[in-house]
Amino acid sequence: MIYRRCGNSGIELPAISLGLWHNFGDTDDFGNARRMLLTAFDHGVCHFDIANNYGPAPGSAETTFGKVLKSDLSAHRDELFVSSKAGHDMWPGVYGGNSSRKNLIASCNASLRRTGLEYFDVFYSHRYDGVTPVEETMQALIDIVRSGKALYAGISKYPPELQRYACEILAEAKVPCLLSQYRYSMFDREAADTNFGIAAEAGSGIIVFSPLAQGLLTDKYLDGIPADSRAARSTGFLKVDQVTADKVEKARKLNAIAAGRGQSLAQMALAWILADGRVTSVIAGASSPAQLKDSLGAIDRLHFSAEELAEINAVLAG
Ligand SMILES: NC(=O)c1ccc[n+]([C@@H]2O[C@H](COP(=O)([O-])OP(=O)(O)OC[C@H]3O[C@@H](n4cnc5c(N)ncnc54)[C@H](OP(=O)(O)O)[C@@H]3O)[C@@H](O)[C@H]2O)c1
Repeated sequence: MIYRRCGNSGIELPAISLGLWHNFGDTDDFGNARRMLLTAFDHGVCHFDIANNYGPAPGSAETTFGKVLKSDLSAHRDELFVSSKAGHDMWPGVYGGNSSRKNLIASCNASLRRTGLEYFDVFYSHRYDGVTPVEETMQALIDIVRSGKALYAGISKYPPELQRYACEILAEAKVPCLLSQYRYSMFDREAADTNFGIAAEAGSGIIVFSPLAQGLLTDKYLDGIPADSRAARSTGFLKVDQVTADKVEKARKLNAIAAGRGQSLAQMALAWILADGRVTSVIAGASSPAQLKDSLGAIDRLHFSAEELAEINAVLAG
């Protein structure tokens, strides 16, 4: 594994981190989830990205992580960098999920109980909810850090103008924004233009989610929608209508470029993101240890020639 410095902080993170959004819930195979976590750790992936609502059921990915921490990794707490987040719905009630102080602090406490951790390494505001003043949400993050429940603060998916303001509030309180988490991939390049620059200016590390476009940037859908895929699962966030003919055609062409580089498409898609030196880490998802190992192979070839980049751009431009 290679490790990259996170913004202006003293923290380094693995270039590839593991996310627990899908495949770690209580409807998933616990043995498989445990093997993925241990495979990751054995390959130097020490950063695990979680959130209160990951499951299904919401909360159960944290419970799964907590079980594996207790049975296999408890002696390694200081070698792990674990995140959680609050801000999306956990349950349908009035306090079931937004970016209020009440939700962030109560949710952080509940996430600590589920994982069995004494503290999170980073705790995020998962989103700007459109209602709660940014001052209230940032003060909650500041207080979570000052109370020792998290070591660092982060934000995710904030629109640019609020991202800048949030970073200013955190910096003023001397609880700087360690990580800015945004969706970014070959198929979704907006954040590089809108958010990365603001994060970099604020000295925040940039960490990318859904780097494989939930599986579209792999060879998974080249011959239809397999029964064991995220798109085929009723609980998956990738919907069948998102597996468009255009995306599949582009993936097919990208797959050929990847083959020319001696990589799988998943490896090339991750390497392409990491070629942007502003990115600290990509949070990859996986549904098996084999997939994870394939993805980790990305770091063996991170360099792109100008011709390869031009070819990729031409495919993406359609
Ligand atoms: N901040 C936020 O709001 C936010 C939002 C979304 C995600 N996240 C974080 O980002 C993490 C990653 O998101 P994601 O799961 O959407 O990431 P992703 O890496 O774009 O997609 C992961 C999916 O791609 C397929 N896959 C992975 N490696 C593969 C390989 N080598 N070959 C073939 N297929 C492969 C698997 O699909 P199958 O399951 O079909 O096999 C896997 O479940 C999440 O777990 C979460 O921690 C954060």
